[in-house]
Amino acid sequence: MIQLNDPKEFNENYLNTRDRFDQDEVAQSYVLRKNNLDTYKNRREMSCIENALSGLPKGSKVLDLPCGSGRLELMLLNKGFDVTAADYSKPMLNTTAEYHHELLNNHPEKASRLTIDHQDILNTDYEDNSFDAVICNRLLHHYPEPDVRQKVLSELSRITKDRIIVSFFSNFSISALKFHLGKKLRGITPCDRIPIWFSTFKKDIEVSGLRIDGCYPVNYGFSPQTYLVLKK
Ligand SMILES: C[S@@+](CC[C@H](N)C(=O)[O-])C[C@H]1O[C@@H](n2cnc3c(N)ncnc32)[C@H](O)[C@@H]1O
Repeated sequence: MIQLNDPKEFNENYLNTRDRFDQDEVAQSYVLRKNNLDTYKNRREMSCIENALSGLPKGSKVLDLPCGSGRLELMLLNKGFDVTAADYSKPMLNTTAEYHHELLNNHPEKASRLTIDHQDILNTDYEDNSFDAVICNRLLHHYPEPDVRQKVLSELSRITKDRIIVSFFSNFSISALKFHLGKKLRGITPCDRIPIWFSTFKKDIEVSGLRIDGCYPVNYGFSPQTYLVLKK
């Protein structure tokens, strides 16, 4: 098992990613509206996550970290889970709170099952095995260094009892090929949103003491976005 280091030792990409989203303008661009939820991509991602959650009983404690502007929360509440939406960015958390305040105004039972929390993914204050499931959607592709991904997976493993649902950008897709070609032609070495090989991510998973229990590609061979279910 990897030991978490002092947060001061966190690497540059990790801190840049954290700070880039921690701004009002960025959070505003993520604000949820019906038209940005009603897209093919969003429906496919949602369906992958729903499949990955299958078998988890109502009343289970589910953490969405990072939650961004909270696009998963209504689906999770509708499934009867006890939901915690957490993120490092306070502006993002504000958008989550505003969106759900309006939405859940007339549904106090659902509102009582939603907690919104400020957390840094490598430094959470959750106790061991606090959640039945943790969802980590669209974060790891921001970390090109395996040791950062491995530290995140280890921390998620510590706080989860049953399963971790994690997304990564897979190289096995037309979109990833376009990404690499585009960067090469422009002479740019990418340091963010980088697709990686499945075998590379599998190694991160193994080093973190986890195993793969399910795989749900958003659009196999076309989109890089792939969801895995991980267990201890
Ligand atoms: C690409 S967004 C994805 C948000 C959400 N999961 C979604 O799919 O809509 C990345 C999110 O990660 C959050 N984030 C970045 N670094 C973080 C950290 N160290 N701890 C917690 N959240 C972080 C950002 O604030 C942002 O909301």
